[in-house]
Amino acid sequence: MTSDLYHVARFRTFRRTALAVATTSALALVAVACGGDNSGDAGSAPEPTLSEAATRGESLLNSNGCAACHGPDWQGGAGPSLAGLYNTERTLDDGTVVLADDAYLTAAIAEPGSQVVEGYSLRMPGNSLDDAQIADVIEFIKAIGPADASGEPTDGAANDE
Ligand code: HEC
Repeated sequence: MTSDLYHVARFRTFRRTALAVATTSALALVAVACGGDNSGDAGSAPEPTLSEAATRGESLLNSNGCAACHGPDWQGGAGPSLAGLYNTERTLDDGTVVLADDAYLTAAIAEPGSQVVEGYSLRMPGNSLDDAQIADVIEFIKAIGPADASGEPTDGAANDE
């Protein structure tokens, strides 16, 4: 009995020591790996490539002051986030739930008062974007939309990467 316990205790000590050694070397490896990574490419993760229309859309959003309320990275502020918005469900102030598809987004931008998103005391102001410009803006919103929605048309390409 006692000798069994002794062996168990010995075994545990051994395991703990082995584990400590393994952990220490793992940490050392991580430190080396991180040191190597600091040599320049941290923070330069490849940006998803935008289509021409989406690129125009992003400049239009910037030049029309949309960032003031929708955030410099489109993550929202006084207004809702435009990132991850495409094809998601929106609850309007009258309780209706609508899908943020092209038609909804076009109306939201062309006639801001026509559909008001629930929960905002501020109202989306008018703007002077024409139909073609709104289409470009929507292309950009798609590009920063949920992965599944934006990935849909380019599924094959996205999976090949
Ligand atoms: C003064 C702040 C403000 C500015 C500037 C602004 N918005 Fe908005 N926007 C809002 C608010 C607040 C809402 C949500 C309430 C509503 O629907 O009126 C909104 C809603 C939206 C929606 C619907 C979002 C959703 O979650 O369903 C879209 C799309 C949108 N804005 C696009 C734009 C574009 C494009 C511009 C630039 C031309 C712009 N906004 C400029 C405040 C702003």
